[in-house]
Amino acid sequence: MTQFVFETTPRIVCEPGAAARLGELAAELGIGHALIVTDRGLVQAGVLDGALEGLQAAGVAVTLFTDVLADPPEVSVLAAVDAARAAAVDGIIGLGGGSSMDTAKLVALLAGTPQALAEVYGIGLAKGPRLPLIQVPTTAGTGSEVTPIAIVTTPTQEKKGVVSPALYPDVAVLDGALTVGLPARVTAMTGIDAMVHAIEAYTSRHKKNPLSDALAVKALELLYANIRKVIADGTDLAARSAMLQGSLLAGMAFANAPVAAVHALAYPLGGHYHVPHGLSNALVLAPVLAFNKPAAAALYAELAEVVLPGRVFAGIDEAAQAFIDAIAALVAEMPFEQRLSELGVGAGDLERLARDVMNIQRLLVNNPRELTEADVRALYASVL
Ligand SMILES: NC(=O)c1ccc[n+]([C@@H]2O[C@H](COP(=O)([O-])OP(=O)(O)OC[C@H]3O[C@@H](n4cnc5c(N)ncnc54)[C@H](O)[C@@H]3O)[C@@H](O)[C@H]2O)c1
Ligand SMILES: [Fe+2]
Repeated sequence: MTQFVFETTPRIVCEPGAAARLGELAAELGIGHALIVTDRGLVQAGVLDGALEGLQAAGVAVTLFTDVLADPPEVSVLAAVDAARAAAVDGIIGLGGGSSMDTAKLVALLAGTPQALAEVYGIGLAKGPRLPLIQVPTTAGTGSEVTPIAIVTTPTQEKKGVVSPALYPDVAVLDGALTVGLPARVTAMTGIDAMVHAIEAYTSRHKKNPLSDALAVKALELLYANIRKVIADGTDLAARSAMLQGSLLAGMAFANAPVAAVHALAYPLGGHYHVPHGLSNALVLAPVLAFNKPAAAALYAELAEVVLPGRVFAGIDEAAQAFIDAIAALVAEMPFEQRLSELGVGAGDLERLARDVMNIQRLLVNNPRELTEADVRALYASVL
């Protein structure tokens, strides 16, 4: 029998309109004065309004930090920590996409502990204690509301992770209504990111287990069945809620069965060229799946039944190829760039990118097939 450890956020509240209950949820955690960590785009889109009313009604004081930057650089994380200290808040609410939620995790940690940011990069180095933490995702998404991970961009343009059980939030609040205004392009990128979490968790080399498998399968089913619907009609609340649930389940899966080469190839694109996280994953997804097929065909064949239910295949190879083709076709339909050259990457850059990827062993060790630096260069070249 597989032996495994499974951890997740202990409380998950999932219902349309749940953001209005943030006040009561904060009060239950003993929060009297919360710092809401978010970005300006969300304030302008009016996404905070219902949450603020609910907090006010419950008598919870609020200080706003609205300066989260995408792919949060260290300076913006530290500015948020300063804001938390200056206002002497006793709890943190991350409200936004992965950038806001990851920043919120680090604020809850660094405002509550003597450790400095530089000391906590890596696995298991953040010890806590931290301030109470509620996460409200508005993209579907990173799944950060149920992962022990925060990703920061360092001054040398590397994307580094803080990974520690101390970062699991106390409560995740899923409110599909918050995501109806998410533009189609961001919807597409973040939706593919969530699908990659499910796929890479399902094929993760060392820690995949029956619980992460079940979550990854359900996540992929929900995400694949709904992503075209939310691109076609962003106001489809049922499809939006399904995407948010899919993203949550994928997050629960990959928090315990970690992601691999797709993410390893994506990170240097984000660090050096500021390609949004989901887009960088989407660009390399189909080539990495094709590369992995010799080692992962049986698992991809199982996923073919999830995304193409009812289809009959002649054997494992045909089913695995049908899965890869279905994912490649979906990515090709999405309203975003399809080639690295459209994002400022040139042939002369591939060597440095491939070198960077080889340093991300924390992810590469989870890939079903081993990659050499030449393999990585060839994978990038195939989508140049
Ligand atoms: N912690 C984890 O486990 C984990 C996993 C994957 C990715 N990440 C990290 O998460 C970050 C990416 O997060 P993301 O893809 O969610 O994007 P994001 O948080 O950077 O947000 C992207 C944009 O979408 C806008 N936006 C978000 N929700 C909106 C809404 N409901 N309506 C209108 N606009 C909205 C934001 O204002 C922003 O401009 C990266 O830094 C990545 O490395 C973390
Ligand atoms: Fe991701």
